[in-house]
Amino acid sequence: MTEQERVQNTSETPEDLEAIRKRIEALRRAIEYHNYLYYVLNQPEIPDSVYDAMFRELLELEEKYPQFRSPDSPTQRVGGRPQEEFPRVRHPVPMLSLANAFNEDELRAWYDRLLKLVPPGVKLAFVVEPKIDGLTVVLHYRDGVFVQGATRGDGYEGEDVTPNLRTVKQLPLRIPVPRAEDGRLPDVPVPSYLVVRGEAYVRRADFEAFNEEQRRKGGRTFANPRNFAAGSVRQLDPFVTAQRPVRLWVYHLVLAEGLPQPFTSHWEALHYLKELGFPVNPLNRRFDSFDEVVQYCLSFAQNPPDLEYDIDGLVIKLDNMDLWDTLGFVGKDPRWAIAFKFGGEEAVTRLLDIIVQVGRTGVLTPVAVLEPVRVSGVVVSRATLHNEDYIREKDIRIGDYVVVQRAGEVIPQVLRPLPELRTGDEKIWHMPKHCPVCGAEVIRPPGEVAYYCTNSSCPAQLVRSIQWYASRAAMDIEGLGIKVAEQLVEEGLVKDLADIYYLKPEDLLKLEGWKEKRVQNLLNALEESKTRPLWRLITGLGIKFVGQVTAQVLASHFRSIDALAQATEEDLLQIEGIGPKIAQSIVTWFRQEQNRKVLEKLRRAGVRMAEEPEEEAEAKPLSGLTFVITGALSSMSREEAKTFIESLGGRVTNSVSRKTDYLIVGENPGSKLQRAQALGVPTLTEEEFFQLVREQGGKI
Ligand code: IVH
Repeated sequence: MTEQERVQNTSETPEDLEAIRKRIEALRRAIEYHNYLYYVLNQPEIPDSVYDAMFRELLELEEKYPQFRSPDSPTQRVGGRPQEEFPRVRHPVPMLSLANAFNEDELRAWYDRLLKLVPPGVKLAFVVEPKIDGLTVVLHYRDGVFVQGATRGDGYEGEDVTPNLRTVKQLPLRIPVPRAEDGRLPDVPVPSYLVVRGEAYVRRADFEAFNEEQRRKGGRTFANPRNFAAGSVRQLDPFVTAQRPVRLWVYHLVLAEGLPQPFTSHWEALHYLKELGFPVNPLNRRFDSFDEVVQYCLSFAQNPPDLEYDIDGLVIKLDNMDLWDTLGFVGKDPRWAIAFKFGGEEAVTRLLDIIVQVGRTGVLTPVAVLEPVRVSGVVVSRATLHNEDYIREKDIRIGDYVVVQRAGEVIPQVLRPLPELRTGDEKIWHMPKHCPVCGAEVIRPPGEVAYYCTNSSCPAQLVRSIQWYASRAAMDIEGLGIKVAEQLVEEGLVKDLADIYYLKPEDLLKLEGWKEKRVQNLLNALEESKTRPLWRLITGLGIKFVGQVTAQVLASHFRSIDALAQATEEDLLQIEGIGPKIAQSIVTWFRQEQNRKVLEKLRRAGVRMAEEPEEEAEAKPLSGLTFVITGALSSMSREEAKTFIESLGGRVTNSVSRKTDYLIVGENPGSKLQRAQALGVPTLTEEEFFQLVREQGGKI
């Protein structure tokens, strides 16, 4: 408070101040109500001039009585102070993405897989939603107040863009949003903690108007509405975001604490979000049969409605929310939802050449070099050709005119050649017999479509392994991208992955383009990376088939690299989510002398090789214990038991192994009981199980 404000304020009695507080509160509610009518329902009730007058009065009162200012006031939508950078936010649960289906067969295949996984007799329903082509945002509300908003980032951690999102007019700063001018609220329970996911987007017309204006002013334009929306949300100056026409659709209830009952239907959850005042897309539909879903999707694709914003498909979600956890996910994609893509935009161009890229596992991928062409607003000059079989089957030849497609964020691909345009000079391509980078022999293992370079110290593999290790998905080492990795390998400074931690400033300074500051930044980033969580290290090792999700499963199961290194295929197979392919790949990786050496070098460099001890310290009652359940329990379903055990820090797996700590035995136990007895795994009755929980200090 300034001196002047203090003087002004002292003239008011406590009663006056209370009246002013109430007036401020009433103005805020009325403004949020009219804001909702205007931006969400598109049905304004009052002229702009009246709205503006209310807004001005509120601004003046907040100016005069700063003690009543509040971040959830509508006046805060105009943007706050610029930031230096975005703080990081860890998502409460991973923000998964979606697998794609491009046609009816793929849609039905998804459904068939689903049917195999859901308990027989359960009636399924589906919700189909437009897939908005924007930017994911994750919004947090505590006791009804918008407290944080983040981007998706890598799915685990995003950027905190709260001040920017406050400026988005469709985003409720407080829930529920008043349903009348007098501030009356709808009669809905409000969670103590709510996290929702939605999409920030910009309408096409708003995007075009903005670009037009920029062109006139000679300013920066954006390639498409999506980039415009993303660029506007990821703005360091919220004042700039406030000037941009960013809008919002909310489509997913991520977390709701403090509600009388959890939601069992996604459709109902959406309805609830709508009641709270979130913008929920009116084109969402619910269906009781999958045939209807397919029909709707196909007719939508054929005759898309004329929308004011871009969509890149439909999202089909299983309505039965209570099955979501059981269904789980594959990689980063939940099994309970799928995106139906209408097929990305296509373009025709010349295929100038086919080159071969060597990946970190040594896979040779043919890449099309194209005459640059614009597809969905982006200039494309490279596209994937997947593998040799693909090129053969489609009869794609160098010199052909080809159809290229770019769908969403995926790498552009060459769909097919246009043989009618051939001149006869086109050339048939063959996979080289030797690695284009190191010259080693190339092999194609039986049963695989991929060719591999056989030299495990191939520089290309090394470059890609470093790139992967340092990427945001893994150890997140800023300043160590592919270009730097190439430079380090070419100059001979790095001969294996671990060498990056042994770089000396004097060596780096000798490199072209490296000065003190850059060297110091890289060394700092390397140092910082040494304390990353275990799962990041496991991801970074680049073990075939082990991505972020699997790495997290492994890290929380084994808690150290050493324990993981000793695991046998059988041990690994006991873990939910690890199949034979992954298990074999892990064991093979750790068996290789070369890899063990790298690990030891990483350890000597000080890279963290285990979960943090603090994490163990705050152990929950059942931490470290693995349970298997057999038979029917009397007090809860197996699913409920699983959730209960997991909430206490324990794990539940499906089959008994030596790693199982206890088998909980209910009515009519199955063969698991015999197996437990054979392996000497202790068994517990339901009552004994509760006894154990109590002994460990857990509440029931
Ligand atoms: S559901 C696990 N619903 O599409 C839940 N996503 O390709 C996954 N998206 O990152 C998200 N509209 O940004 C969902 N109605 C919708 C969506 C939608 C757009 C985006 C979202 C996601 C991407 C996945």
